[in-house]
Amino acid sequence: MTEADFVVVANRLPVDRDADDNWRRSPGGLVTALEPVMRKAEGAWVGWPGQPDLDLEPFEFDGTQLIPVSLSTEEIELYYEGFSNDTIWPLYHDVIAEPRYRRPWWEAYVRVNRRFADAAGEATAQNGTVWVQDYQLQLVPAMLRETRPDLTIGYFHHIPFPAYGLYSQLPWRRQVLEGLLGADVIGFQRVADAGNFARAVRRLFRYETKSSGIRVPEPDGSIRIALAKAFPISIDAEAYVELAARKDIRDRAREIREGLGNPKHMLLGVDRLDYTKGIGHRLKAFGELLSEGRLAVEDVTLVQVASPSRERVDTYAHLRDEIELSVGRINGDSDTMGHTAIRYLHQGFPREEMVALYLAADVMLVTALRDGMNLVAKEYVASRADNRGVLVLSEFAGAHDELRTAVSVNPHDIEGLKDAIMQAVEMPAREQGRRMRALRRRVLEHDVEDWSREFLAELAASRKPAGSK
Ligand code: F6P
Repeated sequence: MTEADFVVVANRLPVDRDADDNWRRSPGGLVTALEPVMRKAEGAWVGWPGQPDLDLEPFEFDGTQLIPVSLSTEEIELYYEGFSNDTIWPLYHDVIAEPRYRRPWWEAYVRVNRRFADAAGEATAQNGTVWVQDYQLQLVPAMLRETRPDLTIGYFHHIPFPAYGLYSQLPWRRQVLEGLLGADVIGFQRVADAGNFARAVRRLFRYETKSSGIRVPEPDGSIRIALAKAFPISIDAEAYVELAARKDIRDRAREIREGLGNPKHMLLGVDRLDYTKGIGHRLKAFGELLSEGRLAVEDVTLVQVASPSRERVDTYAHLRDEIELSVGRINGDSDTMGHTAIRYLHQGFPREEMVALYLAADVMLVTALRDGMNLVAKEYVASRADNRGVLVLSEFAGAHDELRTAVSVNPHDIEGLKDAIMQAVEMPAREQGRRMRALRRRVLEHDVEDWSREFLAELAASRKPAGSK
């Protein structure tokens, strides 16, 4: 294995294994964003191959060296399902679900983070750069700095960072901050997330902060500046524009509407089936609009795509039951022989089908209770080259900071949400165009390549001359 100058460390490798054991590029935005950077830098990617007990040698995929980190069934349960997705995930999403604090989960998280850090250390050349991704690996920056002080280390946090009043619940709150402070640049989605992080550092360690810089004392008594700043992530906007222009996809959008009986209004929700997404609130508001007669089932259909996620975590299994009960009730109360209120799909779809859905939908409902960014909102906007369609967007999604001309909602306020849905359904074409043009300008002007370029430029600028402290 040759050492690389640029190494990404993420919980998952950027590939999935299909039924015939062939590797395919994963569809996610991060993978697309980093692909050109990885190729140019002849980089390496350290990550879990997505299945238990898979002990694989490093291999090359599309010009990138992939370095698999093996996880046992027990480690997946404790580190991934437990600490990452049943402690950190609910805590960092403002305790929408109750976080569980289990010492064996924490111990596994430390062990597995160490394994990722060691693999990254071995893969990176002298004075190279490592970019650590997301909340599953918050301890990796400091672990790496300890063994490889020559490296430049970046970390990007894809989910929210909570206010101190919540963060302080975490029994290992000091260790996690210490882990993150090992990075030279710590990137967040929103200015508010970076602020929450800096405040937690001030409260727990009394370190001084000045604008984005945090003064971190080193063991030898010197001071190192770690930057904590917002770098809002985006999508490969051009790819969506191109897909939306394809004839087969436009035809498919028409076919989708025909399949629904050509309703006057098609509403759309697209989410991982996660309690942070506010799917229940959305269904409640829609159900009440139908039962109160403000919307008629003959005129409107809500298509809800809820892709399966983290199904072995109890909270997720319960959520599925809850959502499916609501869908059944609303449909049972409102459907006619010829019309269905909610077309619910517990499935994932390829990007082409998603764009066809975006083109078919008059109204896109993003009602997250808390969300790091929400890229679905940006995908919808990028796909609407016709400047039609209305985005209803929660104040609690990171994307809300940028997408100012969306119809803004507080999803907890069910009456407000109902009014927002009615406003979207009834919005005149001119107003749709005015709002959508402004949304598109933002998404097309700041795509995911700009995101990675800006982060990496800041990281390169933070690099000290070789040999200095
Ligand atoms: O952005 C949050 C995130 O947890 C990513 O880290 C992850 O790739 C994605 O959502 C999907 O989650 P999971 O890897 O747990 O299926």
